[in-house]
Amino acid sequence: MLVNQIYDKTIDYGKRVGKNIRKKIGQFFTPPSIANFMASLMDYNQSSIRILDTGAGTGILAGGLCQRILEHNTITHIHIDLYENDENVLPLLRENMELIRTVLEQNGKTVIYTIYDQNFILSNDDFWNGREEKSEEELYDVIISNPPYKKIAKAEPESVVMSSIVHGQPNIYFLFMAMAAKLLKPNGEMIFITPRSFTSGLYFRKFREYFLNTVRLTNIHLFHSRLDVFEGDKVLQEAIVLRAIKTTEVTDMITISASENMYMEENFIQQVPYGTVVDMDSDNLFMLIPSTIEEIELLTLVHSWEYNLISLGFRLKTGPVVDFRALDLIKEVPEENTVPLLWANHFINNRISFPVPVSKNPQYIVDTEESQSVLLDSKNYLLVKRFTSKEERRRVQCSLYFADDFVNAKVGIENHLNYITKLEGEMIKEEMYGLFVLFNSSYIDTYYRILNGSTQVNATEVNAIPLPSLNDIKRMGKRILETNSITTETCDTIIEEMFLVNTRQGRNAG
Ligand SMILES: C[S@@+](CC[C@H](N)C(=O)[O-])C[C@H]1O[C@@H](n2cnc3c(N)ncnc32)[C@H](O)[C@@H]1O
Repeated sequence: MLVNQIYDKTIDYGKRVGKNIRKKIGQFFTPPSIANFMASLMDYNQSSIRILDTGAGTGILAGGLCQRILEHNTITHIHIDLYENDENVLPLLRENMELIRTVLEQNGKTVIYTIYDQNFILSNDDFWNGREEKSEEELYDVIISNPPYKKIAKAEPESVVMSSIVHGQPNIYFLFMAMAAKLLKPNGEMIFITPRSFTSGLYFRKFREYFLNTVRLTNIHLFHSRLDVFEGDKVLQEAIVLRAIKTTEVTDMITISASENMYMEENFIQQVPYGTVVDMDSDNLFMLIPSTIEEIELLTLVHSWEYNLISLGFRLKTGPVVDFRALDLIKEVPEENTVPLLWANHFINNRISFPVPVSKNPQYIVDTEESQSVLLDSKNYLLVKRFTSKEERRRVQCSLYFADDFVNAKVGIENHLNYITKLEGEMIKEEMYGLFVLFNSSYIDTYYRILNGSTQVNATEVNAIPLPSLNDIKRMGKRILETNSITTETCDTIIEEMFLVNTRQGRNAG
């Protein structure tokens, strides 16, 4: 097996060069199971093919495609271009490409390959920026890649070349994805393994806009465990494999699959409507990738809701008091002119418990002219933690803040908290409790997890979560007030009774 032969040599190389050196250039090697899986997604059956492997490392992904070509006999003429700019790995890449060529030629194929020992992004600057044209023959049928993962500065040459899709500090991997999309022939396919981070977040919006309007996704594979995708290299991040084709034609479905780990024993595979994964009419083009049947059902429910916090007249904002910038303003003990300063440790069973008897955080902030820019009017707010630890069960953790429980006209909300506020007027009790039902349910919590793999709860994403109408939200609020219980189970039951009973009954009847 070509792939295994290449991998054995890759492992030796990895030991020789060491992880720290490779990490600096974003070099992590793909294990054979994933290389074979990625190659299996190729759906190409003409007699001649132009392949690009970009950030080729030791050539295992090109090797995977060639292995597949050997097993499926229609392709006879193979042209492979490879980009790799690490001079240490180039001798092994050359050796492996010679091996690939020999094996393919022994099996009656013709192979031409070129290794470009160049920077993939900088080499294609002119083409990306419209200063150079390429004929269709120069573009590619299949582009395969495990691109480098590395944050780069906005001023670095790669960021400058692709500034049209850069917002903030980019990670070089998505520049590779965009450049590859550009270099595909019409209907050409790209197969990439990448971090999952590009699927949400404002920093990736310009990229998503370019990418999702240039190619259509056909397959996404998720790994449930983030630990061991790059076995030898222990990369601690969530990776996905995706396949996309260059077309603007609408595709109805995406195949989503998942496996526990890099051994690729698929434990989930499902066709999902394109619109469930990405709403191409939305502003942010966030992608949601469900990995169980329950998650598909949940997305279907949440996507049936037509509003969001903003359209309903609310907004989630970040607490304005940054403790180290407000050292002169915050106090350990109450003084004549102080008001409460709320932190995550005031969340107790979804209510605000203030003051707490022992606190490592100062619990008060002065209400003076200097503090006005960071203080809020004491109104009804639904507070939502911004940060949770990986070990915690819930990402979205909220707490009810009722202005009536406090005597002061002002309140401080610390920067590790978000708060949901009504933009005009006071949030009435039913609205507060209705929003609480949603944000304390496992539905919104799971939705958020699917949307964003990270442990942070960001305003842009929460403000875009689909929500039901204000009338429905108030009905939810009334119901929870009648039950006298504010547990997640109660919140889930209310949502199920209001939105799912009919669907489930219909399905069972059907
Ligand atoms: C994540 S590794 C993947 C290697 C190989 N494709 C694999 O799957 O095992 C990314 C590779 O891209 C190379 N690389 C990093 N920046 C590059 C650039 N700007 N142009 C070309 N190659 C680059 C690194 O040296 C590294 O070998």
